[in-house]
Amino acid sequence: MTETLDIKITKTNHSRLQETDFDNLPFGKTFADHMLVADYEDGEWKNFQIIPYGEIGLSPAISALHYGQSFFEGIKAYKHADGNVSIFRPDKNAARFNKSADRLCMPELPEEIFVQSIAALVDIDRDWIPSKANHALYIRPFMFATDPYLGVTPSKTYKYMVLTGPVGPYFSKALRVKIETHFTRAAEGGMGYAKAAGNYGAGMLPAKRAAEEGFDQLIWTDGKDHLYVEEMGAANAMFMLDGKLITPLTRDTILDGVTRNTVLTLAREWGIPVEERNVSVAEIIEGAKTGKLTDAFGAGTAATIAPVGSISYNGEEYFLSDPKTREFSQKVLKELDAIKYGNAVDTHGWNYMV
Ligand code: PLP
Ligand code: COI
Repeated sequence: MTETLDIKITKTNHSRLQETDFDNLPFGKTFADHMLVADYEDGEWKNFQIIPYGEIGLSPAISALHYGQSFFEGIKAYKHADGNVSIFRPDKNAARFNKSADRLCMPELPEEIFVQSIAALVDIDRDWIPSKANHALYIRPFMFATDPYLGVTPSKTYKYMVLTGPVGPYFSKALRVKIETHFTRAAEGGMGYAKAAGNYGAGMLPAKRAAEEGFDQLIWTDGKDHLYVEEMGAANAMFMLDGKLITPLTRDTILDGVTRNTVLTLAREWGIPVEERNVSVAEIIEGAKTGKLTDAFGAGTAATIAPVGSISYNGEEYFLSDPKTREFSQKVLKELDAIKYGNAVDTHGWNYMV
């Protein structure tokens, strides 16, 4: 069933577009003129509105603040050379949005409503989509609990909101990553597969410690023995080892990334051997030592294809090849960009045209 969405639109009478410096866009600091807001009350989603971006009033007792019933998504919209605008695979994010909602005991949002609401917001702020290479409009849908009640129980009311903002690359250089062997991001039976706000809060102290040692990202390992690679802080981990593209099999401790899925699809079509399986830290380190690890990168919406420059493990740092010389990640980045920016035929139907 396709549900059509009724959205009340109030446009700003002071656009900030002209005063925005599109040559200086640190990730997540610039917001477009409008945002979307909807309420969940009495068992249904209602009051869909697009309003000027700005502060919102909330009770200090909302359960999102106290107990973390809160999660989000990350998507990008692209401007094509002919002026067309597309959103990359929002149906995948819609499905994951509901997986997160389910895990956190929060209400689902029909997938068509998710996609239509985002498309409506992107359409209104389409002039905010940068035309520069490697730039896009980042879309941040999120949901949080709004009952002003301190009992530990699922809220009965929620807000669904969407913000957007122009962004450049999330990472600007090859990553110096550390394999984390003490802290754990997610345990079996936990909520690692959900894009829960709390997963990111829990990762901040380990990431800060690693940053103090000069690292850009962590590679999380399994919570039991720290012997298997899970993912990175903001991207899935992918490796070219001995001519095979290998990546951890997604399970309840790992976010099932849209970029990961896209990269695997292209690799399979190109006839590259692909293995989704448990990836041991030992084989990655061995590959780095012997040179059989010819490529390593993070795959994510914000991160895009983020090359790993070096991997540190137990105090030893292993340097990988110059990212510019890496065949697979260069090729996949080029193809992904060609599709997203409308320069290649979208044979998979990945671009949702606005
Ligand atoms: N893993 C984590 C923890 C992330 O935050 C992200 C970013 O969204 C990803 C993986 C990659 O997912 P996607 O490609 O859907 O953006
Ligand atoms: C994304 O890639 O969209 C993410 O959510 C990563 C992020 C936490 C900045």
